[in-house]
Amino acid sequence: MSYETILVEQRGAVTLITLNRPQALNALNSQVLADLIAALAAFDADDSQRCAVVTGSEKAFAAGADIKEMQSQSFADMYGHNFFAGYDRVTATRKPWIAAVNGFALGGGCELAMMADFIIAGDNAKFGQPEIKLAVTPGMGGSQRLTRAIGKAKAMEMCLTGRMMDAHEAERSGLVAKVVPAAELVDEAMKTATAIAAMAPLAALACKEMVNAAFETTLQQGVIFERRLFHGLFGTEDQKEGMAAFVEKRPGNWTGK
Ligand code: HXC
Repeated sequence: MSYETILVEQRGAVTLITLNRPQALNALNSQVLADLIAALAAFDADDSQRCAVVTGSEKAFAAGADIKEMQSQSFADMYGHNFFAGYDRVTATRKPWIAAVNGFALGGGCELAMMADFIIAGDNAKFGQPEIKLAVTPGMGGSQRLTRAIGKAKAMEMCLTGRMMDAHEAERSGLVAKVVPAAELVDEAMKTATAIAAMAPLAALACKEMVNAAFETTLQQGVIFERRLFHGLFGTEDQKEGMAAFVEKRPGNWTGK
């Protein structure tokens, strides 16, 4: 399938999705959203694919929601059509996916990166929620996900001043999992994704669900949820294979069952 605003490539069990609107620094318009939803749904539905990487260009992961598309919208347009609600379908992706960020990840770009399971940043990455400079606010979850990722003090400061945070500060603050040289970003993210893709698929789904549950539940309920999923994995063939492979000192061979 071909898309208008993204490039999609399968490398083994990893799907690489590259935002491709260079003329607008990958600003996220409705077409990008439609393309992303379709590509991530196709990735989720394809049993040969186990992990995805979403990246942009060396200059910009994405410089935000498309300001030119939003400029003339009224409250009735935005509220009536529940503008940005489509991003709920992006976050509904069940398999693991990584945001590989070089350059600007601003506004909706930062918010899209935070929808990923984790972020790997190139050392030239710049994160920010500059919407306040346009007299609006984050609208794709930024005020919530940034606060959960880096805490109130820094999130509030970022949202109120609109300043950018560089890759190293983002790593220190817990926004990104690791920083790599910009030129090696996609290779490094693909390596990490390939390692995840080699894990037993049901265990990977379960890991993602339980870590995400930490943001939605109390500690006690989260621990119970984890334990139930953990118990459930003992009903899988891959658990038997994984533990047998350990005992027999050989790599596991997964069926995804
Ligand atoms: C539409 C955008 C854009 C955006 C850049 N462009 N960001 N178009 N929406 N978010 C376009 C520019 O208009 C320009 O097009 C081209 O991309 C190159 O951008 P320049 O500004 O010329 O590049 P540069 O000088 O290198 O500056 C890079 C930049 C700057 C610092 C990232 O582009 C910038 O500040 N962009 C806006 C960042 C922002 O405010 N993001 C938040 C958006 S609101 P032309 O045609 O002139 O060449 C948002 C809200 C989410 O995300 C939810 C609430 C509403």
